[in-house]
Amino acid sequence: MSNIYLSARTESFTESVIREMTRRINIVGGVNLAQGFPDFNPPEELLDAAIQAMRDGYNQYSITWGSPRLRQAICEKVDWHNNIKADPDKNITVTCGATEAMMSAMLAIINPSDEVIIFEPYYENYGPDTIVSGAKPVYIPLIEPDFHFDPEVLKAAFNDHTKAIIINTPHNPSGKVFTIEELELISELCNEHDVLVITDEIYEHILFNGLPHVSPASVSGLGDRTITISGMSKTYSATGWRIGWTIAPEHITNAIRKVHDFLTVGAPAPLQEAGVVALQMPRDYYSKLSKFYNHKKETLLWALTDTGFKPFVPKGAYYMLTDISAFGFESDVEFALHLINKIGVATVPGSSFYSTRELGCNKIRFAFCKTEDTLGKAIERLNKLKVT
Ligand SMILES: Cc1ncc(COP(=O)(O)O)c(C=O)c1O
Repeated sequence: MSNIYLSARTESFTESVIREMTRRINIVGGVNLAQGFPDFNPPEELLDAAIQAMRDGYNQYSITWGSPRLRQAICEKVDWHNNIKADPDKNITVTCGATEAMMSAMLAIINPSDEVIIFEPYYENYGPDTIVSGAKPVYIPLIEPDFHFDPEVLKAAFNDHTKAIIINTPHNPSGKVFTIEELELISELCNEHDVLVITDEIYEHILFNGLPHVSPASVSGLGDRTITISGMSKTYSATGWRIGWTIAPEHITNAIRKVHDFLTVGAPAPLQEAGVVALQMPRDYYSKLSKFYNHKKETLLWALTDTGFKPFVPKGAYYMLTDISAFGFESDVEFALHLINKIGVATVPGSSFYSTRELGCNKIRFAFCKTEDTLGKAIERLNKLKVT
């Protein structure tokens, strides 16, 4: 059938490379270190709370912008963890994951000809988010090995069309954690040019070596111009529950709520109730989570280095981006396909995180949010690659 039936918008999307790698590894029956979902369950008490919520009758639409109990729990948690003061009635919108939160936020603020600054490499959804909302993306390189940005390059990117800058800290795929100095510079520029910040903090509880999480909204000058996005997926190992949220000034929240209502009506009602139990977990749950992932990071780091990779050591999140030059392949995609078909391990080709594919063609990304057993199997297979 002819493509005349399809929108130009969708024509410009490519299939998610991450999902494609998952499909291919499932065909050969290998180990999936491509997609960023844990291969283990959320904490038991959350499972019990979800079942109980269904039994208690939370099975119909919740209030569009989120269950009052969950919005209250979000406000209490961001007060102690993020240093953000929020009002459950004015500032919070519960969405279907951070994914919908980002799309609703963009649709709520973008007008034709608006530009949005994105640091690259970037989480691959930000590309389609800008296309659907009609924004023009302006990419700022993060420079290896520590993925800092050049302040002069960032300054030069701000102009009269700039509507927003997207920050993702801790960062997927690099593991970068934005420093307070970087956030202060961003605050200065956003205030000078009247620009909003959209910050994706879905990995806010996975940081290594005692690094603290700093929410951009808590940085001087950014409180009134920041949309903070987070959710349950990564912190509570519940990517399938689809619970996320935005925290934003009241007038922006009102716009986000309208978009969210028409996109999805609401997030799953019983899982929002279970979310209250999640957000009220004892505080040592979070320090244990970081330690849990730090151990996996160290295991993978050692194994990849031993095999001949040159990994970039992540400061947070649960991915490891690595240089693959030592293996002498033509491209990242060719190498990733070799890993799937000959070694039995799925990864993500680096080029899927860049606007210009060449920039990522000497890298791949491993996800380490997997059981010891899964990681062990992957490492055993990767041993076959050893450069001797
Ligand atoms: C940076 C980033 N933001 C958002 C998401 C998706 O979050 P959610 O499951 O809440 O939609 C991911 C998932 O991998 C991610 O890496």
